[in-house]
Amino acid sequence: MRGILTRLKLDYLDLCLIHWPTKQSFECWRVLEEFYEYGKVRAIGVSNFNSSQLKVFFKKIKIKPAINQIETHPGFNQKNTIDFCYENNIAVTSLRTMLGGRADEIPLLQELANKYKVTASHIALRWTWQLGQVVIHKWNNPERIISNPDIGSFQLTEEEMLKIQKLPQTALGPQFNDKKFWKGIMMD
Ligand SMILES: NC(=O)c1ccc[n+]([C@@H]2O[C@H](COP(=O)([O-])OP(=O)(O)OC[C@H]3O[C@@H](n4cnc5c(N)ncnc54)[C@H](OP(=O)(O)O)[C@@H]3O)[C@@H](O)[C@H]2O)c1
Repeated sequence: MRGILTRLKLDYLDLCLIHWPTKQSFECWRVLEEFYEYGKVRAIGVSNFNSSQLKVFFKKIKIKPAINQIETHPGFNQKNTIDFCYENNIAVTSLRTMLGGRADEIPLLQELANKYKVTASHIALRWTWQLGQVVIHKWNNPERIISNPDIGSFQLTEEEMLKIQKLPQTALGPQFNDKKFWKGIMMD
């Protein structure tokens, strides 16, 4: 960690995350806790942890994560993990919010995009933001730097939010809630 700060020419980091749950997560977390206590990291968090993994994690750690950065979007709403995070005061950061640029493949999102005269990606962004999640959006196309943050110009109704919540669910990334995928990797 000291080496990272020296290379970045910084005195402290605002936020540092563990990318993935592994058997080394506890050891890694202890180092983060130490740097947090020294004030060298202002907040510490995790990424790609589901609720069962967080429960295992909590048994051995001193400081709870401030953030869990996970895949969430209309096609993978992660309700259980998100509810668990909120019950434990952990903010949720959404990744793949715009389904990696494939939001327009979901007819309901396209239909709502036509209604609000925006893109299907904007509907996915707005839905996630309206649920109270932190969103980190990504783009290479400069026009989107202007259009993506402009999702405050419309509001999805309660009925539309629920309709989106009921869409078929599939993860785009590694099988987040698949026990077989995590066997031997998870800290159990
Ligand atoms: N912690 C982890 O394990 C993890 C894993 C994956 C990603 N991430 C992070 O999550 C963030 C989000 O990235 P992501 O790749 O997952 O996916 P994303 O934000 O869902 O999608 C990014 C893609 O959406 C396209 N896009 C952006 N705005 C659009 C718009 N208005 N209309 C149509 N397409 C649009 C972009 O295309 P253009 O590039 O052509 O603009 C880009 O290809 C990144 O910062 C990434 O580093 C973290």
